Amino acid sequence: MITGSFPIEALSAYETPFYYYDMSVLRSTLREVTSQMQIFDNAVVHYAVKACAAPEILREIAKAGLGADCVSGGEIEAAIAAGIPASRIVFAGVAKTDKEIRYALQQGIFCFNVESQAEVEVIDQLAAEAGVVASVCLRINPEVDAHTHAKITTGMAENKFGIRMQDLEEAVRDCTRRQHIRFLGLHCHIGSQITDIQVFTVLAERLNTLVARVEALGVPVEHINVGGGLGILYEHPNHFPIPDFQSYFATFARSLQRRVGQTVHFELGRSIVAQCGNLMTRCLYVKQGTQKRFAIVDAGMTDLIRPALYGAFHRVENLSCPDAPEQVYDIVGPICESSDVFVEGYSIAQVHRGDLLVMRSAGAYGEVMASRYNLRRLPGHITSDDILTA
Ligand code: LLP
Repeated sequence: MITGSFPIEALSAYETPFYYYDMSVLRSTLREVTSQMQIFDNAVVHYAVKACAAPEILREIAKAGLGADCVSGGEIEAAIAAGIPASRIVFAGVAKTDKEIRYALQQGIFCFNVESQAEVEVIDQLAAEAGVVASVCLRINPEVDAHTHAKITTGMAENKFGIRMQDLEEAVRDCTRRQHIRFLGLHCHIGSQITDIQVFTVLAERLNTLVARVEALGVPVEHINVGGGLGILYEHPNHFPIPDFQSYFATFARSLQRRVGQTVHFELGRSIVAQCGNLMTRCLYVKQGTQKRFAIVDAGMTDLIRPALYGAFHRVENLSCPDAPEQVYDIVGPICESSDVFVEGYSIAQVHRGDLLVMRSAGAYGEVMASRYNLRRLPGHITSDDILTA
């Protein structure tokens, strides 16, 4: 079995389960993003903090000059603490609390991605109280099918996100009438783990129509935010560690009709951090069931919930005995839930008690979604920099 490259000896010193972030993968990914986005003369990538908020990762992203897309006061705090200037932070989310809105106004963030007219009204009032003007982009639900997992689709008519297309004109007019609101532009986000790049062409074309409708009101659209969603190849972390940012940005460059001076914003999360993250775990027991052979590991759905929640696939590798003959296992965790299964009927180099296993491509929506169910400790993380400096 081909495995990624891992400093096994150094990693063996840490108590499993834990996340291991390979900073060289992150740095190469960031170099590729910042280079490919140059196809636009005026683009900003706001990293979606919800994907991974480990401080070391956020600091590296800040150093690369990316902004942040935050969905809570806590994420705004984390982004600022990591060195991302408030002027490069957007605040999204279907229901921001008054406390969070006040905090964001105080920090002077770049803009709010607003999801309803009622929210515009609240932001207007709170901005008036604070004596400031809040910049907003309206998040429109563009009814574009992202062709991805139903649980991570956001831009369809049945989803709770965004403002209905039919309410666009009214919402824009409402913004322009308010004293403490400055209308900046439009925002869309249609879903995550999108692997069919054509979907982004459809989104861009839909945005062209929406922008034209706003301009027909005599209101300029200074910013277009196309959201995130670029998928990664979970099956092939060794062969394709860096997503195809070139095609991604080129698709928008080709399809979006841009006006002079207009800025295009992206909110990439998964594609930036997924492949640099790995969940390290050890096999506790190998057990023969009536029908199946189980490799029971010390990581559970509390550490990586994606397989249980979305049926997501993460490649598993046996780092202790990579060259052993392969055997078929269900790789499962220790949690008292039948859904605590990472992968079923999986062929992997023969596993023994104590073997160090790695679950790949777990940097996005891995550690951040961990819970303390069963009163387990949170997995925590180390980075390749920690190992180099140890
Ligand atoms: N912008 C908005 C408004 C979002 O809701 C999201 C993700 C992003 C950007 C970043 O999308 P990305 O580039 O990472 O696809 N927990 C799920 C994924 C949930 C995505 C939520 N929104 C998973 O593990 O697959």
